[in-house]
Amino acid sequence: MAAAMRVDLRSDTVTRPTPAMRKAMADAEVGDDLFGDDPTVNRLQDRVAELTGKAGAVYLPTGSLCNQIAMHAYARSGHVVVCEETAHAGDHELSSTALISGVAFRKVRGESRGLLSAAQVAAALEPDPYGMTVADLVTIENTHQVGGGTPMPVDDVRAVAKVCADRGVPLYLDGARIFNACTVTGAQLGDYAAEVDAMMFCLSKGLGAPIGSMLVGDAEFVEEARRLKILLGAGWRQAGVLAAAGLVALEEGPGRLHEDHANARRLAEGVAEVVPGGIDLDGVRTNIVFVDITGTGRPLADWVAALARAGVLVTTVGGKVRMLTHRDVSAAGVDAALTAWRDVAAQLAG
Ligand SMILES: Cc1ncc(COP(=O)(O)O)c(C=O)c1O
Repeated sequence: MAAAMRVDLRSDTVTRPTPAMRKAMADAEVGDDLFGDDPTVNRLQDRVAELTGKAGAVYLPTGSLCNQIAMHAYARSGHVVVCEETAHAGDHELSSTALISGVAFRKVRGESRGLLSAAQVAAALEPDPYGMTVADLVTIENTHQVGGGTPMPVDDVRAVAKVCADRGVPLYLDGARIFNACTVTGAQLGDYAAEVDAMMFCLSKGLGAPIGSMLVGDAEFVEEARRLKILLGAGWRQAGVLAAAGLVALEEGPGRLHEDHANARRLAEGVAEVVPGGIDLDGVRTNIVFVDITGTGRPLADWVAALARAGVLVTTVGGKVRMLTHRDVSAAGVDAALTAWRDVAAQLAG
């Protein structure tokens, strides 16, 4: 029997560099980024500043570090950051924020699939009658990962931004997958960037770079972010070898994300037949698919292990199976994943 095709749906971070990226990496002109003279890093930062319309950009190893630096730059120890209940910055990076910045979170359950409305943000920014809790920053996430990869339209970001501006609280956008949002809403990167004080996006997710994320903001923010980057140990020297792949990802990546979205939809529709009622199909708008397997009566761990044995790698988030499509998942990969889901369902039912 032919070996099952291996389909890695754990994250959109698992892609391998394309031939163009590997060539660019091999040919990259480099300097020392800690001294600020790596020409390829600088080229990437300049390009991102241009695309976002912000004063400057900082190239960092991870999206988490972007979030941590932004929160440290804006929020004082003992103050709070407002975010959605399941936001990456406030939920998955909680201990980092406690360790690095000593800030707490005021968490609000998103009104719709992880998205915060302007009214919710306004309520969260109501002054504390005891004067103890001071909100220094509002963080939103677009697309919202745990919400199901939910894209937030620019108008909704603008409404939140107005609430923040009226109260003098800066707005930060965790745009790890902002290009997935752009693909659905038709907005440009700069449209989102224009509405917020600072934002980040990942080159290492849907865009396919092996590593790296970009943090942007005004000149004062960028200067502080560069200082914090070095302070936190990310003065990564000849990072131009990586930035070269990032530049290619920025060119190659955004234009093909609709393929990942189409694959996610087909995957979701196929799995919904195997696990009836397990998928919020209306919520599958980008490259993320969540499957609630509680109705099957089998533990999550059994599904994950059986799918892995069948060659399909998935993760679990919030008690559900999570799958992400990306450049290294072809239409044939989706077919193989669906076959595995059907086989596993039959096995676990037996
Ligand atoms: C919405 C969101 N923000 C931030 C991050 C952190 O990015 P990184 O894995 O590069 O630290 C992730 C990672 O999955 C994410 O999904």
